Formats: sequence, structure tokens, C-alpha cells
Amino acid sequence: MDFNAVTRRFKEELARLEEAIRKNYESDIPLIPGISAYLMNGGGKRIRPLLTLLSAKLCGREIDDLVIKHGCVIEYIHSATLLHDDVVDETTIRRGNETVNSKWGSDASILVGDFLISRGILLLAEDCNPKVIRAIAEATKILVEGGILEYTHARKLDVSKKHCLDVIHRKTASIISVSCQMGALLASASDEQEQALVSFGNDFGMAFQLVDDAMDYDGDEDLLGKPPGTDFKEGHVTLPLLHLYQNSDSEMKNKIEYFVQDENVSQNDFEFILEHLRETKSIEYTLDLAREYLDRAKNTLRNESFKSPEYLDYLIAVADHTVDRYTTAKICP
Ligand code: IPE
Ligand code: IPE
Ligand code: MG
Ligand code: MG
Repeated sequence: MDFNAVTRRFKEELARLEEAIRKNYESDIPLIPGISAYLMNGGGKRIRPLLTLLSAKLCGREIDDLVIKHGCVIEYIHSATLLHDDVVDETTIRRGNETVNSKWGSDASILVGDFLISRGILLLAEDCNPKVIRAIAEATKILVEGGILEYTHARKLDVSKKHCLDVIHRKTASIISVSCQMGALLASASDEQEQALVSFGNDFGMAFQLVDDAMDYDGDEDLLGKPPGTDFKEGHVTLPLLHLYQNSDSEMKNKIEYFVQDENVSQNDFEFILEHLRETKSIEYTLDLAREYLDRAKNTLRNESFKSPEYLDYLIAVADHTVDRYTTAKICP
């Protein structure tokens, strides 16, 4: 099944999700809906709320207003992390548009991000489901820890692969995993089913971020909606660069150490590194690992029995698409 078949099948539910997203950021302070509309109308794949909707379906719950609302909460938290992340990463382009921090300034980006988080909490408070609140609060805490862990180790090359994986597990897999868990919780699924969805989301989230990290070196700006090179410029040592570093001679190691310390690396420096990443197959190495995580994610789901297994293929199509979308051209010459 391809991704378009998923969005076609759930067209009406996704339209309701958009409506909830639009309705809930209303405020009498015009800057809030102004920036929120700019961000939300500018695209975004809605992968996380889609996972919530599909997981709920898989566990036998209809996509009613409660499920849609929780999808909206997840997208708000995700959007807030993007608004904050773009300030931290000093990015100027996202979703093919100028970032909020570039257009309105960092203060506006941080504050509207805060608004979206508080709005999300208020939506959760309407139902006071302790399992749901705990899961989302825990995931958000871990996500923030991931961002902080990444920030505190920026410009350091003495990190391990384990460290890089820990960062992405926290900053990305946590929210993708809770997006899936949400569906199970709202459907009152069994503990085993919930755990299978948590585990699927974690492994898929790892694959998702590994692909993003690979594409931050070797991706296509039009396809990604953001220019490659941000991690390199910000001194974030992600797996592709770490793999290159660990497989370089001392002369090359010195160069990488120099670039990672340099706050003003040039496009030429980036292209130089990219050429070497290709030579050492560091991009492939990262994408291969992403595929391993993706396979494990899919196997976990296939090995569990769900109330409405006919929706399994939809969930798997979302996972496949998200990883393949950017990589097919790179993997299959
Ligand atoms: C971007 O997430 C942040 C990462 C975890 C890489 P998405 O790629 O899901 O962003 P949008 O919402 O579709 O723009
Ligand atoms: C972002 O990681 C994960 C978040 C918590 C937002 P990245 O910094 O790699 O995301 P992009 O590349 O800016 O989308
Ligand atoms: Mg970023
Ligand atoms: Mg990135």
C-alpha cells in the first residue's frame, strides 16, 4: 500500500483533524492565531496525529472527536518543539517557508510554542484521563531532555554511537511512540497491544530521525522543505559525521575537529565533508541502520494481534513512506 492510499482512505478524518488544529489555536491576541496559521498552513506531514488515528483504528476505536482531539494535542506539541528547535538551531527555512523565528523573531517563536503546549495541556485537562496525561507528559519530558542532551554535547567529537542514538531516541522517538500509544490508550487496548504500539513507535521514530540526520547532509531541499547543512553548521555531531570521524585518518580527523569548532563553516566546508561522507559510505551506514529499525518496528506490529488487523497495512505504509520518501533516490541508483 502506498502513502496516498492512506491519506485517501482517511481523507475525511484528516480534514476533521485540520479543523480541530485550526479551531483550537484561536485567541484574542492576534499574533497567536497569526503565527499558528502561518505554521500550520505552511505544510507539515501530520505524521504523528495520523499515527494516533491509525493506532486507535487498529485497536478497534472509531476516529471520533476524542481521538481527533488527541491527534491535535500531539501536533501542537510537535509544532511547539519545531518553533523552539528552529530558534536553537538558528534555522531560516522550514516546510519550504521562512521560519517563524526568521520572520517574527526568536521571542515570538518561543512564546507561540509555549502557547501551543499550554493549549495542548488544556485540551487534555478536558478529559482528565490520567494514563493519557502521564504518557504525554513523560514523552514531552524525555523529548526536552533529548534536545538538552544534544545541545550540551554540541561541537564534541568524543561522543559514542550509543550517545547519538540516545539523543534521537529521546528527542524524536519519544513523541512518535506516544502518538501510537495514544491510539491504544483511547481504545482501551490490552497492555500487550499498547506495548507493541509503543515499541513500534520507538523503532519507527529512531528510523525517522536517522533518515532526517542522513538527509541533513545528502538530502534534497525541495523534498525536505529545509536546506541540508544545519547539523554541520550548528556543530551537532549526528551519526553520519561520527561515522566519518571514526573512520578517518588523523589528518582528516583534525579537519573535522576544526570544522566542528568553527561557528562560521562555509558551504565549501560542507561540500568537502559531504564528499568524504559519501566516500566512507557514512550516509549509507546511517540509512542502513534506519532500515534495521524500520524492519524491527514492522515486525513488532505484525507479531501482535489487534482487534482490527485490517488497519495494520495503513500503519506500515506510513512508516515505509516516511523512510522511503527521501531515500529511494539515494539507495536505488
Ligand atoms: C521534523 O519532523 C522534526 C524531526 C523529528 C526530524 P517532521 O518531518 O515530521 O516535520 P513536519 O511536521 O512534517 O514538518
Ligand atoms: C528535531 O531534530 C527534533 C525536535 C525535537 C524538534 P532536528 O533539529 O534534526 O529537526 P529538523 O531537522 O530541524 O527538522
Ligand atoms: Mg532543527
Ligand atoms: Mg534535522
